[in-house]
This record gives sequence, structure tokens and C-alpha cells, in this order.
Amino acid sequence: MLLKSEFHPTFCPVMTVRTICCIGAGYVGGPTMAVIADRCPQIQVTLVDLNAERIAAWNDADLGRLPVYEPGLADVVARCRGRNLHFTTEVDGAIAAADMVFLSVNTPTKRKGLGAGQASDLRWIEASARQVAAQARGHTIVVEKSTLPVRTAETIQAILSAAQQGTEGDTKSFSVLSNPEFLAEGTAISDLENPDRVLIGGDDPGSIDALAEIYSNWVNPERILRTNLWSSELSKLTANAFLAQRISSINAIGALCEATGADVKEVARAIGSDSRLGSKFLAAGPGFGGSCFRKDILNLVYLCRHYGLEPAAQYWEQVVELNSWQQQRIARLVVSRLFGTVSGKRLAVLGFAFKADTNDTRESPAISICRDLLEEGAHLAIHDPKVGVDQITSDLGQGASASGLGLADEGSWQPAASVLEAVEGADAVIVLTEWGQYAQLDWPAIAARMRRPAWLFDVRAVTDAEAARVAGLRVWLVGEG
Ligand code: NAD
Ligand code: UGA
Repeated sequence: MLLKSEFHPTFCPVMTVRTICCIGAGYVGGPTMAVIADRCPQIQVTLVDLNAERIAAWNDADLGRLPVYEPGLADVVARCRGRNLHFTTEVDGAIAAADMVFLSVNTPTKRKGLGAGQASDLRWIEASARQVAAQARGHTIVVEKSTLPVRTAETIQAILSAAQQGTEGDTKSFSVLSNPEFLAEGTAISDLENPDRVLIGGDDPGSIDALAEIYSNWVNPERILRTNLWSSELSKLTANAFLAQRISSINAIGALCEATGADVKEVARAIGSDSRLGSKFLAAGPGFGGSCFRKDILNLVYLCRHYGLEPAAQYWEQVVELNSWQQQRIARLVVSRLFGTVSGKRLAVLGFAFKADTNDTRESPAISICRDLLEEGAHLAIHDPKVGVDQITSDLGQGASASGLGLADEGSWQPAASVLEAVEGADAVIVLTEWGQYAQLDWPAIAARMRRPAWLFDVRAVTDAEAARVAGLRVWLVGEG
């Protein structure tokens, strides 16, 4: 077991961190701690999680089986694992040995009780804070890495200070920092290695310096922003809300383009050239997915309502509503173009992850679109390079059909090992995730395997639509009139 580097009497902050524990070895904790370990060989980093299966996968000798797929992640893990990067279910020991504890646990939307459907469920944050309070030794810096409602640090401080007062001779002490994570899945390693900024909120300058010192091993100090706790917590929710707002805005305009003959890619290019707007995050598609945008905006809505700011709550709520509308609109238009019925028809679905270069399907638009099509009786052949059968089964709430096509009027689905397998006998190809390989499809070979008239619905506008047209397909592109 790791031993805490030094004993620090109360109120004397640790200035140089030698041992880190991160609670939560998920999509954020895993890549973030791997990069810290890679860039700071002098620090021992231990990731802990309650989920033994997940920890076993992080320790798997086969790096192709890590629980999180991210380009470049396996190389970083290969360099550090066993050296100064450790994965374990032994939470208590790792907390006791740590100078700094990151809380990187899940914070989903509450499902029941007060604020259900909007507020964040903070039970995992509270549980991990209590565990830190009980197990920590000496002085410990506790860092909020999870995305949290503004003023959560107050709760964490209350839990920690109760433990501090409970110890004989006050042998433990804590300070709390907010250090939200801005990485996007699919580009996590490059986002972590070259962040636009690192945000640290806190009220104890010594602790802020200790965390800034870690990042300064590879991040230019000018990019390390220091704020008070509440600004830091609120900036994270705000960043996600502003990003999601751009997607709902461009999808609203995309629908208008489809109705008027304008082309959303041309509109995006025209407006994105204005340096005040910028060109990124203007790709029309099936609406935003992923584990955070929806929950974080709903949390912002809840906070606005809580503080009596109803028009502000409604403003942000609309961003989420437009996103749901976009997904329903896509499923409806597929049915309508296929002569008003997809019952008994085979449809090839290309992509199930919420975006390219990740195995994550949380809140993927593919889930709601596929569910709507199954409800209409479609037979879906689903292809995704990184998402497995078990995940799709759990997301769709229905197992893969064992014997080919199901009954004519009941929706069914099957996994497809290749795009050519998926399109065999299909009436339509529906592209839902922008995987790079879908930009280079062999349209004559695909067309030859489909039933005519055959359709391409490119909901990401990433395929070679002209080649598909030449091969004889009817083509619908998101945002193109
Ligand atoms: P995740 O579900 O992949 O990982 C969270 C992990 O925490 C799980 O493996 C869970 O078993 C573990 N856990 C929960 N309670 C625990 C406890 N008491 N002790 C030990 N382990 C515990 O979630 P994630 O996607 O990594 O997100 C974590 C946080 O980071 C969320 O607040 C999220 O909003 C935020 N965030 C996520 C992203 C992203 O791209 N996924 C980006 C930035 C911020
Ligand atoms: C997003 C933010 O980009 C991160 O900064 C943030 O840290 C993270 O949420 C979080 O807090 O979890 P992520 O959800 O991983 O990251 O992925 P994004 O690249 O933001 O994509 C989100 C969704 O928007 C995806 O479904 C994507 O396909 C969609 N999108 C994105 C578009 O439809 N159009 C675009 O132009 C960009």
C-alpha cells in the first residue's frame, strides 16, 4: 500500500503533491488521471472505483479491452500503468495515502424526489465525500472534478469539517477546490494534453498553488485560470449550456434549410467566418447526445427556477426541447420517405455511439431514433465499430433477433459486423454517427445489395452523397434543401 508522503499538521496546506487518489474510474477519471500520471512521473496516482468489473478492465493485459475507448488512451496507460498509475477497488487505503483526492464520480439527473428530471443526483458525490472524511489522514486537498451544481462545494466542506471536528486533537484537515473537466469524448487525450484552459476555483491560495503546480508540468501557466469556488462550478455548467445551445441553434436553422432550399453547411460556413461566432460546433446532425449536455442544461434550468428566475429557466429548457424535437423529426421523416411505413422493412443503421471515436452511447440520438423506428415495426441492422451487442441491447431495451428478420409487424434488430452485411436487402441506409469510415463507403457495392428504390438518410452529412446518388440511391442529407 502507498504511504502518505508526509504528515501535515492542521491548517498547513500540502505544497507539493506526491500521492493522488481519484474516486471514479470512468470516462473522465480514467483519461484525466492517465495523463496526469504520464506528465508527472514523480506523483503516484491511484484510481479507485466501486465497480470491480471496470477496475478489472482497466487492469486488463489486453489494452484493447480498456473500459473506455479513446484514441491515444491505450498508449498513455501502457506507459504508466504499474509505474505510477494504479487501478484498484481498495478505496479506503488509497484515500488514506493521498495528499490530494479528486472526486470524479457520476452526477446524473435525479430520477425521483424533489427536482426529479432536472436536478443533479448528488448521492455519489456525498457518499465519496463521506468516505474521504472518514479515511483521510493529515491534510488533504479535495478536488471536485465531477460537474456539479453551483455551491456544491459548500456541502462537501460541511461533510469534511464535521469529520475534522470529530477527530481527537484535530489530526485531519481539508481544503476543497473546484477543477471542472472540459475534455470531450473522442478527443479526450489531446484535450487533456493541450487544454484551452484549466480552471481552478477555491479560497485557499496554498491548495490552488498545489493543484496549479501539477498542471504546470505540461500546461502553460497563462492557461491556468483561478477563480472563486462558485464561479468555477458555474462556469462548467455554462460552458456546456453555450455549446449545446449552438447545436440546437444550427439544427433549428437546418430544418429551415431543408424547407427552403438553403444548405446548412453553406450557412454554417458563412456565419462561422464571423470571428465573433467562430466555425466550430456548427455541424447539423441528429441532435446532441452524450452523458452531459442534457443533464447539465436541465440542472441549469433547475438552478434558475430555484433562484426564482423563470424566464431564464425557460430559455435554457428550450435548448433541450429542440434537441428532442430534432431526434423525433428524423425518425418521422425516414418513415414518411419510405412510403409512410417501415413495418417489415430492413433498414441499415450506421453508427450507434453518440459521436465518433468513442464507445459511449449515453444519451446517443441513435437510441431514440432506433426506438421510434422499432416502434414502427422496422427491422434494423446496426453497425458500429466500437459499440457491442450487449450495450445496444441494454440501450434499446430489447435483445437482438436470433433468427434473422422478426415478425412482419414487430420491430427487431440485429448487429452487423460490416457495412456490407448491414445493407444486404435493406431499403435504406441511415447514418447516425460520423465515424471516419462512413465517409469512404463503396456506394456501387452497397447499392447492388439493397432493395430498390433505396434511400440514404445521412443525418451527419458525412458520406459521399454524390457517389451514392450516382449509384442509384435517393439521398436525404440533414440540413440540405
Ligand atoms: P462515469 O459514470 O463513466 O464514471 C463514474 C464512476 O464513478 C463510475 O465508474 C462509478 O462506479 C464510480 N463511482 C460512483 N460512486 C463511487 C464511490 N462512492 N466510490 C468509488 N467509485 C464510485 O462518469 P463520467 O463520464 O466519467 O463522468 C464523471 C463526472 O465528470 C460527471 O459529473 C460528468 O458530468 C463529468 N464530466 C464528464 C465528461 C465526459 O465527457 N464524460 C466530461 C467532463 C465532465
Ligand atoms: C461535451 C463538451 O464538448 C466538453 O467540453 C465537456 O467537457 C463534456 O461535454 C462534458 O461535460 O461531458 P462530449 O459530450 O464528450 O463533450 O462531446 P461533444 O463533442 O461536445 O459532442 C456532444 C454532442 O454534440 C455529440 O452528440 C455530437 O455529435 C454533437 N455535436 C457536436 C453536433 O451535433 N454538432 C457539432 O457541431 C458538435
